[in-house]
Amino acid sequence: MNIECINVSYLYEIPGDEWALRDISFSIRQGEKIAVIGPAGSGKTTLIQLLDALIMPTKGDIRYDGESVHTLSKARKLTSIRRRIGVLFQFPEHQFFHETAYEELTFSLRNFFNLDEREIERRSREIMERFGMDVGLLKEISPFRLSSGEKRKLALASALLSAPEILILDEPTAGMDASGRGELIKMVSCLQDTTVILVTHNLEDFLPIVDRCIGISHAELVADIRREHLMDRLSSLLSSGIVSPLVLSIQDRLKSEGVGGCPEVYEMKRLIECLRAKL
Ligand SMILES: Nc1ncnc2c1ncn2[C@@H]1O[C@H](COP(=O)(O)OP(=O)(O)OP(=O)(O)O)[C@@H](O)[C@H]1O
Ligand SMILES: [Mg+2]
Repeated sequence: MNIECINVSYLYEIPGDEWALRDISFSIRQGEKIAVIGPAGSGKTTLIQLLDALIMPTKGDIRYDGESVHTLSKARKLTSIRRRIGVLFQFPEHQFFHETAYEELTFSLRNFFNLDEREIERRSREIMERFGMDVGLLKEISPFRLSSGEKRKLALASALLSAPEILILDEPTAGMDASGRGELIKMVSCLQDTTVILVTHNLEDFLPIVDRCIGISHAELVADIRREHLMDRLSSLLSSGIVSPLVLSIQDRLKSEGVGGCPEVYEMKRLIECLRAKL
């Protein structure tokens, strides 16, 4: 599904409040991997709630394969869009409320799709195998007894269970240790045809797997840059409060010092290999 944001603005209905988003326009093609970056409070979570049609633009429009969100809302057809989008909210484990981890895992699938128990279980087993977790065990234990990494995996698996065309992740690695972050990133990198829109304060982590970055600062879109052009925009991003990934800053510095010869890379591991080969 292609998504187009056309001059979207959003105002929370609190008297005297500023616009949470102002005049945002961009489009996303099916299969793209996009990082949404920007300082705290800039409007990133608001943007993804709009993209998931949880809230409606105060001004402007969002089109899903050309269909306006306002038209879909009037026709009470927003569910048909929302069931095609999987969402992992910020700190999803804080929103767990089911008695067993299995109920937590399968809740959205049950809610949005009319599937029989056998199919729900078949899909659960298939996906949990990828995550190295046992469905039998999940049926026995409370989601709160899982480790923090396992809780995050459970929430991601829950979002993936319906095989969404679009996966939206709000700070998916926040508060995770390096190995948990690595596993989650690997999992996301395997989703080849799925559109992934992820909000992150850790662009460094996701740089190897994204095609494009959308920068939001003070409620406005300040950047919509393909990964290969990021390097040329580091200083303008910084002036909007967006700190560049270390792996790019180092290469930028090396370039300005006249140390060339390495192709642009997006992983620290690769950069070290390349520099080592030059020594
Ligand atoms: N439910 C709400 N009611 C009123 N104002 C809100 C609400 N949620 C967010 N805001 C305000 O909207 C603005 C954008 O918030 P948002 O949560 O989208 O930012 P963010 O970029 O996701 O921040 P963070 O990086 O801290 O998660 C902020 O000024 C925030 O205070
Ligand atoms: Mg947020």
